[in-house]
Amino acid sequence: MKIIVADHYEDLCKLSAVIIKECVQAKKDAVLGLATGSTPVGLYKQLISDYQAGEIDFSKVITFNLDEYAGLSPSHPQSYNKFMHEHLFQHINVQPDHIHIPQGDNPQLEAECKVYEELIRQAGGIDVQILGIGSNGHIGFNEPGSDFEERTRIVRLSESTIQANARFFGGDPVLVPRLAVSMGIKTIMEFSKHIVLLANGEEKADAIQKMAEGPVTPEIPASILQQHNHVTVIADPKAAQKLKNLSYLSNK
Ligand code: PGA
Repeated sequence: MKIIVADHYEDLCKLSAVIIKECVQAKKDAVLGLATGSTPVGLYKQLISDYQAGEIDFSKVITFNLDEYAGLSPSHPQSYNKFMHEHLFQHINVQPDHIHIPQGDNPQLEAECKVYEELIRQAGGIDVQILGIGSNGHIGFNEPGSDFEERTRIVRLSESTIQANARFFGGDPVLVPRLAVSMGIKTIMEFSKHIVLLANGEEKADAIQKMAEGPVTPEIPASILQQHNHVTVIADPKAAQKLKNLSYLSNK
């Protein structure tokens, strides 16, 4: 795991956009794994401006999102499908049939999970997987206690995630769905060739320290990334402030 400390959030967004740009320039039909949440919004803004400047062409790119709330239709204002279209897809030339996001309102949700997993396999895996991290150490919706062997499946959100995500639902935790579909830890670990984890702000400092320097434990799902052979963490100084071995981790 290599840790890059960005000067500030804009720098974090630029550095992560360069990784995606270089990947797509080298492989026009690259497969990107994408994340929602506040952290990647600036990355998506940067990718949109790179696209508008003619520096990146998404016409052959394939995308897979990490997760989606169960029960929300793709057009629901708080669905991750809607989020991705608003923050990225509607501004770039990605082909609609190259976009994959679990369909949260599929009545056959378990079958949806199996098909999703299979689609990633058939795409040949994910070239660059963008991850955020929860302040509880989750990646995707793999909450503390998640089994490292799990694949795409229906998951129950932890109380801390419901509270953290209430801000997207007008501040009311009651409105946050309790269930979601998420790529599993095994899906992420096995299918991702390069994982780029983004962390911004001091509320992520504990999670980043435990992820990188603590024991590998289901209590901190992101800690499994210590066992992946190509992980780049891009953190702002506040998210990186509790790392004890920063000079070692940033020179790997
Ligand atoms: P955030 O979410 O980017 O909104 O902090 C990250 C996550 O929960 O994975």
